[in-house]
Amino acid sequence: MCGIFAYINYLTPKTRHEVLDLLVNGLKRLEYRGYDSTGVAIDATNTKDIVMLKSVGKVKVLEDSIAENLSGKEFDEPVLIHCGIAHTRWATHGVPCEKNSHPQRSDNDNSFIVVHNGIITNYKDVKTFLEKRGFVFESDTDTEVIAKLVHHLWKMHPGYSFRELVEQAIQQLEGAFAVAIKSRHFPGECVASRRGSPLLVGIKTKTRLATDHIPILYGKDDKSPPIEKDTDSAKPQVLPRSESTSEFMPLEEKEVEYFFASDASAVIEHTNRVIYLEDDDVAAVRDGALSIHRLKKCTDDPHAREITTLKMEIQQIMKGNYDYFMLKEIFEQPESVVNTMRGRVRFESNSIVLGGIKDYIPEIKRCRRLMLIGCGTSYHSAVATRQLLEELTELPVMVELASDFLDRNTPIFRDDVCFFISQSGETADTLMALRYCKQRGALIVGITNTVGSSICRESHCGVHINAGPEIGVASTKAYTSQFISLVMFALVMSEDRLSLQQRRLEILQGLSTLADQIREVLKLDLKVQELAKDLYQHKSLLIMGRGYNFATCLEGALKVKELTYMHSEGIMAGELKHGPLALVDDSMPVLMIVLRDPVYIKCMNALQQVTSRKGCPIIICEEGDEETKSFSSRSLEIPRTVDCLQGILTVIPMQLLSYHIAVLRGCDVDCPRNLAKSVTVE
Ligand code: G6P
Repeated sequence: MCGIFAYINYLTPKTRHEVLDLLVNGLKRLEYRGYDSTGVAIDATNTKDIVMLKSVGKVKVLEDSIAENLSGKEFDEPVLIHCGIAHTRWATHGVPCEKNSHPQRSDNDNSFIVVHNGIITNYKDVKTFLEKRGFVFESDTDTEVIAKLVHHLWKMHPGYSFRELVEQAIQQLEGAFAVAIKSRHFPGECVASRRGSPLLVGIKTKTRLATDHIPILYGKDDKSPPIEKDTDSAKPQVLPRSESTSEFMPLEEKEVEYFFASDASAVIEHTNRVIYLEDDDVAAVRDGALSIHRLKKCTDDPHAREITTLKMEIQQIMKGNYDYFMLKEIFEQPESVVNTMRGRVRFESNSIVLGGIKDYIPEIKRCRRLMLIGCGTSYHSAVATRQLLEELTELPVMVELASDFLDRNTPIFRDDVCFFISQSGETADTLMALRYCKQRGALIVGITNTVGSSICRESHCGVHINAGPEIGVASTKAYTSQFISLVMFALVMSEDRLSLQQRRLEILQGLSTLADQIREVLKLDLKVQELAKDLYQHKSLLIMGRGYNFATCLEGALKVKELTYMHSEGIMAGELKHGPLALVDDSMPVLMIVLRDPVYIKCMNALQQVTSRKGCPIIICEEGDEETKSFSSRSLEIPRTVDCLQGILTVIPMQLLSYHIAVLRGCDVDCPRNLAKSVTVE
């Protein structure tokens, strides 16, 4: 999805060149989110104007255009106070082209320019309102209404501060958004806000910050009538200005740099001190001071926003010696699975403590049912662990795709426990489903990889999967860590069940050897690459399995689709004869997962049904299983582990296979076409 990056320096001299480098670098860090065009804006030299450059395609194209168009001696002169904004756009309204790229402007003079993430759902009404007042629109975007609305308000209320204008404007907007706004009338200032899309502020100072909090300034509790459809008389009502109610000192530093960014990976190389903005916060930087405003105070609102320290390391968001982030992340799994268990699983005492949910375990044990909700790969981690959760919790477990769950208006009860699984913690469908369940009184458990994310903040309790930043759009290490987090939860739930102790010990034993076994599986890389050479020119790949490995089939097929643009389908082997068998012949590529688990005989039946239709499947089987291997000339042998953890080992060859097929097909592994890492629109 779109990425926002803004940089404001106050009394910290930077040349325009340096500012542009910083902005472009920020965009590079956000590239992984998925985008199709880019843009940047800084102050022009020696005038009050703003220069904007926009381009279609990669950040590199923008970088080249900057080198070509924005150079000269004047770009090497330091500026003491400056604000620059930049953006990667993932098209929603209007095709990717320069005109639709951000920043979007209010007028030819760039009075107000906006970078925006999300969708303004009432943009047509706002546009009609503004058109009637003489504004001429030049793009197909919803974003343009924001710049023009702020401009309109500026003309109406000359005495208003930049922040007040934005505060007024966003009250008129519906939908989900994050914005950063710059103005030629307020040089050196930046105002940013969010509702539903992530946005954080990074703070960099030379000396230690004097405070850990930024006060929130509140306005009076008045209602602003929305701009109504097509009515001439409708106009944004002027709202009360917000005022200070706080005992905290505002942040006013002498020499300071601020960053507004869609996620932490864009700021970590500059600072580890950040504030995660909440919905409807309006953050303004003016004369080196950062203030956060809200229009209305709710009873349980805090007085201040906390400045948190990021734990992320810069190396974690660098590719190192790997060609792609995805490959790096696949090979990180021996460590990331250990990080998920670190401090939680105590192998000496066979006990598990999940600090983020331990106080809620008694309540969870009393619940009516468990619901696991997510999208994409996160949903597959729920499919992968459902059987074990049913076995160890003895509760009904429902597994739901967030979008479908919402479409159905699924009944939810106060005694339901709803798990929301999300790597990014920002996926709009998952977040909407969370809010839906929360409103109905269910207990909300977040399983996320992103500290400070919306799902993390809005959950009652949860588990951080601690897989480390995942940059490749196709999720890999987050999947195995989500899987382990849910297994750990199942183990916690069964701690005092005598009849389940043997099973628990067997699983704990499996967890203790998992990292080494993943290392063994990763050694198959070259063999997988050879298989990829057989497959990459085909149009389709069927992946079959059942029981604990059905999730690997779904996840493997998703990886193949996402990365290689080849058709692929994960098939429940039990369904083979109910349709998919018709696809099988001597030319259809088929991969089958056949392990010595409780469904082995059934999987063997499926294997025979495939081979007797002249199918030549690639088989994933257990190390040394000569009998199963004898059914095919191509197989991958993986180490044996306890049945419910096998899915962690079987998914890794699928991750590698999709990676190698993608490379052979010349696809962009880390940023597949049309996809985004964090899908913040519904
Ligand atoms: C997008 C990504 C998928 C991911 C899904 C859920 O569709 O392309 O790889 O699995 O979102 O993301 P989440 O951050 O909620 O796990």
